[in-house]
Amino acid sequence: MAITVKRSHPLFFGEVDGVDLTRPVTPDLFAEIDAAFNEHAILLFRGQAMSDAQQVEFSKLFGPVFTATKYHWAKQERRLRAEMADISNIDHDGRLLAEDDERRFHNRANQLWHTDNTFKHVPARCSLLSAREIPSAGGDTEFADMRAAYDALPETRKREIGDLIVEHSIFYSRTKMGFAGYTDGARTELPPVQQVLVRRHPATGRNALYIASHASHIIGWPVEKGRQLIEELLAFATQPQFVHRHRWREGDLIVWDNRCTMHRATPYDEMGERRVLHRTTVSDEINSVERVRGQRHSAA
Ligand code: OGA
Ligand code: MN
Repeated sequence: MAITVKRSHPLFFGEVDGVDLTRPVTPDLFAEIDAAFNEHAILLFRGQAMSDAQQVEFSKLFGPVFTATKYHWAKQERRLRAEMADISNIDHDGRLLAEDDERRFHNRANQLWHTDNTFKHVPARCSLLSAREIPSAGGDTEFADMRAAYDALPETRKREIGDLIVEHSIFYSRTKMGFAGYTDGARTELPPVQQVLVRRHPATGRNALYIASHASHIIGWPVEKGRQLIEELLAFATQPQFVHRHRWREGDLIVWDNRCTMHRATPYDEMGERRVLHRTTVSDEINSVERVRGQRHSAA
């Protein structure tokens, strides 16, 4: 074993020691990392002074990396290459964003519990977030273990929700934050999509709740009734026993499994201090509803 993993939380979140991700990751080493990732759902690597190119290369070992959606940031000049999501409060000249800059609204929406890209037909498998500059206080990220949350549900609830399908839309979560300034192009590019409510993890076989701020309603249910169920499950899954809070240090790289965890940003003095993180997002293979239908089909 080249790596050692120490759990930071009783349920999930492993801190990995003994890896320098700025050096080539061999297939054997990646197999160890991947096994740890499946077990702990989230991995933290400290002290990784990675370039964007190195981050993209490492991310690709997990699967195909998403590139920026065309219309999402159409009005601004990008600070980073197309594979990097810019989780920062600075512009391409390195200045703090203006108070009314749209990018501030987008980043603020990260303060709602979510998992990345559930609003895309093929959602995200995992995300890799690299800390480049961290404010002196605040700006922690919280994570929730959705496998443990599912396991803790009463059996009647598990039976009731097992086959439900949820509609997700980025416009739903952004509207919750009071932001509605999307172009028609964005709306065409990111139509609402469907995802299962309970996901079985392909590597571990464990079930997890699959919800997010983008989860709008349950297909086939009255909208309000579906919303109530989603809100209830969000509240249940983010109880303190399922949550780990990470205090960032520069050089931290965290990989989280979007199929079985949620996360949210926490506030900091965003008009006074810089917070700069770079995210790569790895795509899943297939839409979660299509995956289940395909499995049922091949089992029949
Ligand atoms: C993200 C995200 C949270 C944070 O990068 O996907 O939600 O704390 N970030 O910045
Ligand atoms: Mn996110």
